Amino acid sequence: MIELTINGKEIKTEKGKTILQAALSNGIKIPNLCYDKRVVPFGACRVCVVEIEGQRKLEASCATLAGDGMVVLTDTPKVRKARQAVLEFMLVHHPLDCPVCDKAGECDLQELVYEYGKPNGRFVKEKKHSPPDTKGPLVELTANRCILCGKCVRICSEFQGRGALGFIGRGFSTVVQPAFGEAIECDYCGQCIDVCPTGALLNKSLKYKARPWTLEEKDTICPFCGCGCTVTLGVKDGKILRARGREDNGRNEGNLCGRGRFGFDYIYSENRLTSPLIRKGDELVPSSWEEALNYISDRLRNIIDSHGPSSIGAIGSPRCTNEENYLFQKFIRDVIGSDNIDSSAAFGYGLAEKAWEMSFGQSGHRIDLKSPAGKDVILVVESDLSVTHPVFGLNILKAKRNGSQLIVADSRETKLTRHSSHWANIKQGTGVALLNGIMKVIMERGLFDDKNTLKIKGFSDLEEILKDYTPERVSEITGIGVDELVAISETFAKAKTRMLTLSVGVSENTKGLDMVLAAANLINLVGESPDALQIPAEYANSFGLYQMGIRPDAGPGYKISDNTGKGISDMLYWAGPNMPDIRDADNGSWEELDKLMALKALYIMGTDPAVTFPDSSNITRRLKSLDLLIVQDIALTDTAKLAHVVLPASSWAEKDGTYTNAEGITQKVCKVTELTGQSFPDWQILKNLSLAMGKDLGIEDMGDIVEEINSLPPVHILPVNRSFNPVNYAWSEGTDVSYPLNMVVRDLLQHAGSMSTRSKTLGLVSSEARIEINERDAERFGISDNSHVRITSRQGTVYLKATVTDKVPDGTVYVPSHFPHSGVSTLTCHSARKGISMDAVRVEAA
Ligand code: SF4
Ligand code: SF4
Ligand code: SF4
Ligand code: FES
Repeated sequence: MIELTINGKEIKTEKGKTILQAALSNGIKIPNLCYDKRVVPFGACRVCVVEIEGQRKLEASCATLAGDGMVVLTDTPKVRKARQAVLEFMLVHHPLDCPVCDKAGECDLQELVYEYGKPNGRFVKEKKHSPPDTKGPLVELTANRCILCGKCVRICSEFQGRGALGFIGRGFSTVVQPAFGEAIECDYCGQCIDVCPTGALLNKSLKYKARPWTLEEKDTICPFCGCGCTVTLGVKDGKILRARGREDNGRNEGNLCGRGRFGFDYIYSENRLTSPLIRKGDELVPSSWEEALNYISDRLRNIIDSHGPSSIGAIGSPRCTNEENYLFQKFIRDVIGSDNIDSSAAFGYGLAEKAWEMSFGQSGHRIDLKSPAGKDVILVVESDLSVTHPVFGLNILKAKRNGSQLIVADSRETKLTRHSSHWANIKQGTGVALLNGIMKVIMERGLFDDKNTLKIKGFSDLEEILKDYTPERVSEITGIGVDELVAISETFAKAKTRMLTLSVGVSENTKGLDMVLAAANLINLVGESPDALQIPAEYANSFGLYQMGIRPDAGPGYKISDNTGKGISDMLYWAGPNMPDIRDADNGSWEELDKLMALKALYIMGTDPAVTFPDSSNITRRLKSLDLLIVQDIALTDTAKLAHVVLPASSWAEKDGTYTNAEGITQKVCKVTELTGQSFPDWQILKNLSLAMGKDLGIEDMGDIVEEINSLPPVHILPVNRSFNPVNYAWSEGTDVSYPLNMVVRDLLQHAGSMSTRSKTLGLVSSEARIEINERDAERFGISDNSHVRITSRQGTVYLKATVTDKVPDGTVYVPSHFPHSGVSTLTCHSARKGISMDAVRVEAA
């Protein structure tokens, strides 16, 4: 630490900090326009100048290191005069169009000019004339308001890892523009809007809708991915008009991706439900709440009487709050008497949790968004974390910038592969083989602590399985060289600190439980702490719903249930771990099995399995065969369209509650806007439905639910109890002459699940599913860029537009599953147990 004096105040700061950083961290304000702590100081604006005792020249405090014993003055007449001159110079070219600028009222330039007084006007005023560039879908650039501070250019390139903006031209004519004049590589994150100190970069969707001082701002948690970012919503006349990040605010420290910043308008989608609906023939007809609740109550009672409570199942929601999921499972377990309850986490977080329990004997797998910081080696396997968990992705990039070795094993080019120290360009879906190969090399070279590792249960089984994963065979499977595999293995094994990370979820089809177990095996082999394995829960409350007991085998607080119910596989696919005996014994047709085992009723809250779950044609068939399908959601989803009764629920912004992010941190979700139509928060619907069924859940208000959750026995942190769970590399589908291409399902940056596809603003960037195909494959199958393509798998056929790109490898096509109208999930299959479900397809020009 060093000591210095600023404005007579003695302060301490770490060595290597600038005067500006030392001042700000000690609550001393120094005006600045081009400083942002996330990027390297630029020293462009000179507004931050200060006087340093013993020096004649004023120095830019953002670019001058604080020195021991330094005496600094930040607000002397000399300093003020210099700042005034700097501002005067900036205003020479500025259009001074504050009356029509959306930034007015929260513009740093305007604030400073106001504070330092009207400039003298000593210079000849030559204004820049450039109309706003409105070509971009989300960001508007008005170059003549730009003061060339470079913050946008640096945040985009250094921090966001994109480099979509650059300075074009020289001297007077210099302007900020998308690189090459067109935003081709933009994330549409809007970080550049947040950092711009003037009205040069503006949020198009807010234009002329509200002055900053007319917006009432409130913090809440983003409803999309598991990062759990804090967003500051701006509300006017009861309507959310913008979302922004505020420096250092929340787990995201003010950073947001495009979903969090622009996607909130999904709540204003035209297909929001405004009243309950009951099926009458082929139609869903509006009804009163009383009618709908009585209808459900009567039908459920009849089904319980005729078929028993275990003929009823439920699917909870990672979009709903902890309190709602808690009440949902309580309703299903206590009022209905069934343990058949699960969620989309069965395809994602549930697998991470299962592997965590099997490999380390612990419950509640959580990540730390900041875990990448300071790691010697970060290994990412078959995951585009900059897309699935953008803020976690930013922290991985930051760690790389600060010296971590980033090794990314992936089949396609991504932002992470581009920024990696090493891109292991493996074939899609071969991550398990790669991890087994790494372990084999580590074992053969004795790069593990054999004294402790040999004692771990399952070591000899692991050794046995790894016999088949010689570097040569793994090289053949993965497509990477033997030397490359050995180098990656040695680097990972020899690192002093390391992290292995991957994503797993319902919208990806190249990873399953095997992948997570293989990753955990590697962590055990190198004797790392389980925390070195970082698998983020996928959606806003995937972690929380699991804790609240939305799983068939455990109630709230990981309390293992005596009566294990049916999970997703059993309820929707008849292929789950509880089913083989019945199927083998019966040896009958699927229809007979349906009759024998099918649920009679399903209650689905805030999930759209007919769109987002794999093998969705089969799911649709299953849902249609039910005696009663209840769907409670905010919009008329494809699943809701199949329901017997649909209940309108409030969106995330219309209710209070909590989400628990992938770090296991529970954060408040706030009501910022009024209810839509006759919708109600999910917990109120459940409370009223229980009363209609003659049972009182003992809940009057939200406070009662919170009290019940808080009274759950604390989760005991169990000691680490390691086991190896060896897995083989296996696919459930292979390519052949009829289906010659592998189809990889992956997320798009603008979307999380299908809910975000209702956002008109996000739709301006990404509104349709496209199939990405390599140039050579496109030529082979007669497909041109932008043309329509028929895609056929063993499960079904869909039509999509093609993007021909060299970013994807030969023999593989990539598709996203977010868009309901694309039907991509009808192509995929469900792998209930081992292996991965990557699907084989053929493509033809349509
Ligand atoms: S929106 Fe994001 S990626 Fe695009 S230019 Fe701005 S900072 Fe860069
Ligand atoms: S557009 Fe804004 S952030 Fe970018 S250089 Fe100009 S003033 Fe700075
Ligand atoms: S989608 Fe995820 S990363 Fe993006 S703002 Fe929301 S929580 Fe943050
Ligand atoms: S903030 Fe220091 S020169 Fe701009």
